[in-house]
This record gives sequence, structure tokens and C-alpha cells, in this order.
Amino acid sequence: MREVPDRVRRLPEQYFTALLARVAAAAAEEGEPLIDLGRGNPETGPPPHVIEALQRSAAEPDVHGYAPFAGLPALKEAIAARYRDVYGVVLDPAREVAVVPGSKTALMEFALVAVERGETILLPDPGYADYPSAVALAGAERGSFTDFETARGAALYLNYPSNPTAACVPDGLFEDAVRWAGRAGAVVLHDFAYGDLVFDGRPPKSFLAIEGAREVGVELFSMSKSYGMAGWRLGFVLGNAELVSRIETLQDHVFAGIFRPVQEAGIAALTGPQESVEERRATYERRRDRALAALRGLDEQSQGTFFVWFRLPEGVTAESLLVEHRVAVAPGEGFGPRGRGYARLSLAVMDETLDAGLERLRAALKAGQTRRV
Ligand SMILES: Cc1ncc(COP(=O)(O)O)c(C=O)c1O
Repeated sequence: MREVPDRVRRLPEQYFTALLARVAAAAAEEGEPLIDLGRGNPETGPPPHVIEALQRSAAEPDVHGYAPFAGLPALKEAIAARYRDVYGVVLDPAREVAVVPGSKTALMEFALVAVERGETILLPDPGYADYPSAVALAGAERGSFTDFETARGAALYLNYPSNPTAACVPDGLFEDAVRWAGRAGAVVLHDFAYGDLVFDGRPPKSFLAIEGAREVGVELFSMSKSYGMAGWRLGFVLGNAELVSRIETLQDHVFAGIFRPVQEAGIAALTGPQESVEERRATYERRRDRALAALRGLDEQSQGTFFVWFRLPEGVTAESLLVEHRVAVAPGEGFGPRGRGYARLSLAVMDETLDAGLERLRAALKAGQTRRV
């Protein structure tokens, strides 16, 4: 076989694939049933009217051919209307919205259409583990974002609320990002996958609500978290018309549209009753409260998302929790060097699973803390 091309060889180990395999191997070993608080996979699906829309559409005879490559105009209008109503952002659905098969795809596409080979893409550290894959695929160099004074790069990925740290955007950071990008001639991607999952009365904050944001960047909106549609693969790139158009061009070459019933269901989700969005958010907030109480004293934090980020006491690792206590969390170092010594716990599990997992964690972490004293 021929050599693996560089752009494939550069791909990092896929963090979640490796984590799932490790947890599955541990689960197969003898012992109590393992409790998995490691993965961020929404535990409940979309509301019934969304599933009915898919079923209704799939029963139509004329939906089985190729859908329009750029997506249904009505779907673009639906997300634009939601942006107006929920985030106070007015978008031109024809020019400022691209439909993508999940926002993960757009993380890769953005790098391909925005930077030249060898240029630097700045990533959050700790940050979502798929961002380095985008850097590798684009043949770019990876830089760590720390502050706007020292930031040097062609593109910057931001993500608030953050996976894995569950932090919401600090005041003024989006404004600084827009100013920096303007000065540096750089572009910004804001990953808004958890945009609606914010706690303690915080309003959702879109990057595009900042003046000048759409001149320098785009935002990714995912149907996965707000509507429990992770497996459906539907998301959006919104904002800068030039970047949106480049992504649509790239997709014309790589995909042939998204199955029309999935798009029709997306329209139903975005334009139908919205109670489920708030119910989901409130459920995660209640679980977050219980998790923070169980992890007290460990720099535990969660202002949004369906994760809690916490420090592992000395002598305790994600691996020791898995092997000795049969509870899986996501090890912090998988999200970047600055994640070392921390772990991410997922709230996207049923209540009973969370409570049983917290019980085990409480015992294991207390033992760790005591050992340290
Ligand atoms: C921060 C972040 N961005 C993007 C994604 C990808 O979401 P999707 O491709 O399902 O829209 C995820 C999924 O877990 C995520 O956590």
C-alpha cells in the first residue's frame, strides 16, 4: 500500500473513540456494572412533533432523491427567525446561513476554507478535542489561545459555553475577539453548540450579537444539544457571507445535500413549540446542582453545557476512578495540556445513573482528598 498522506497521518488519535473503547474494555471486566459519566451524548431525543415531521415527510414519494445541495430555503429561514427571536441577531437566510450535516463537520470545513496550509489556528486549551483534527486536515499549525495581546494566528476557535470547562463567555471577550481579528486580519469561529444550555439565569449569548462580528467570523449552531438531535446530523454555519459561501461551495463537492425529511424535521423543531428546550436546560441545571454539591472543594464549575469540570485530587486519575471505582469520567488532558489534573463529568445521563455515579465519585474523591492531607 502507498504511504499514508501527510494530512491523514497528522490526524491526532480521536479522543472520543479512544475513550469509548477504554470504557467499553473496563466495562467488560469483572465487577460492579460500570457507570459512564464520560461521554456527552444527549440522553433524550427531540419532542414528538419533530419525529412526526420526519415520519410524515419520509412517507412522501418525492423526498427520496437528492435534496437541494445548499439545504431547504425554509430551513435557513427557520434558523434565522430563531436567531432573531432568541439571540436578537438578524441574519439574511440566503447569504448568511449554511446548512451542514452536524456542526462537527463545519469545524473541519471552516479550517479548510479559511486558512492556508502552514498558517496558525489558535485553539482554546482546554478545548473540544476535535478542534486539533481541523488543524491537521487543513495542514495548518496549532497554537494555544491565551490572550489577545499575545495571540498570533490566521484563525481563532472560541467555544462558549465551553466543552469541557462549562464556562460561559467572560464579559467583553467577544468584543475583544472582534477587535483582535480586525487588527490581525484573522477570522473567528465561535462554536455555539451549547448556546441554549446556560444556568443561573444567564441569557444565551451569541457571538453574532456583537457589532462587527459577522465581518470577521461565523458561529456554529447545532441541533444536537438544544433539541436532542445528535444522531440526526444537522447544524448551521451563520454569519460572514463570504465564509458561508465558501463552505457551501466545499459542500457542493463533498456532499449531496441532507435527507429532506431530516431538514423538514429541523424546521419543525425550530418553528414548533419550544418548551422542550427550556425543559432540557432546566433538567441539566438541576443535575448540575447535585453534581457541584458532590464535588465540593475540587474547583468544581459549570455555568452551562451539560458538563461539570473539576480538579482531581492528588493520587486520583480518570483511570483509577474507572478501574478502582467503576465510574468513567473524561480525563482533562485529552482536551489540551492545561486540562491535566482535571476531569469532565457528563450530566447527559438519566437521573438514576448520575446519582449512582456521584455516590461512587464522592467516596473515591473524598478518599483521594484525605490521602493528600
Ligand atoms: C463543543 C462542541 N462542538 C461541536 C460539537 C459537535 O456537535 P454536532 O456535530 O453534533 O453538531 C460538539 C459535540 O459534542 C461539541 O461538544
